[in-house]
Amino acid sequence: MLLHLSTWSEVAQFLQRSRAIVVPIGSNEQHGPTGLLGTDWLCPEIIAREAEKDADMLIAPTFNIGMAQHHLAFPGTISLRPSTFIAAIGDWVRSLAGHGFTRILFLNGHGGNIASIEAAFSEIYADSSFTRERAGFALKLCNWWDLEGVGELARTQFPEGHGTHATPSEIAVTQWAFPDRIKTADYAPPIAPSGPIRDALDFRARFPDGRMGSNPGLATPEKGGELVKLAAQSLVRELAAFANESVPA
Ligand code: NI
Repeated sequence: MLLHLSTWSEVAQFLQRSRAIVVPIGSNEQHGPTGLLGTDWLCPEIIAREAEKDADMLIAPTFNIGMAQHHLAFPGTISLRPSTFIAAIGDWVRSLAGHGFTRILFLNGHGGNIASIEAAFSEIYADSSFTRERAGFALKLCNWWDLEGVGELARTQFPEGHGTHATPSEIAVTQWAFPDRIKTADYAPPIAPSGPIRDALDFRARFPDGRMGSNPGLATPEKGGELVKLAAQSLVRELAAFANESVPA
């Protein structure tokens, strides 16, 4: 069930049978010469929607702008600074928790979001901790590449040249979902350099075409489809375990 294609009364009915919701979250940022700008929000959205086809689960609209300050020297990137991102996550959670959702799973597609999502969770929990009240809800961060079995599959598919940004696995997922948007380039060098992440101009100087340690030319739609199917199955299990987690009185 997709929240944005449901009515408020359908959501109210859903809450009678489940208190869990999945929020795909990512970033709109450059992904090398051939990667779609939406790659990091498209991947969790694609996986969540695939999972939803066979399971009674509710998928929130995708939180599609994240913490991508280091990519701002490439056209098309849109970023929130960490403090804005943390504040916005807080308002999403308070909106959903107020309706009665007690298990909110953020399915993340951008490594650069992790620190801020974790900080957002701590800010939110602090609201109740300082007043010694129970929050009444639990938050969970799952990176799609960490879903059970996905990392192993990606390492089998791409034993070298996976890298950490504009990776062949994430490019493959978008190729599977949008086969008419596949782009090609002559990558030079085939495997991009690696290094630290600092500010936007430093990033562009270190990684001139936007890739980090990766060879996106290894991506194929077929490999992307394998990743999506496996990730979707793992997400269903992950959500079920989270929804059924017992909370001490
Ligand atoms: Ni990415």
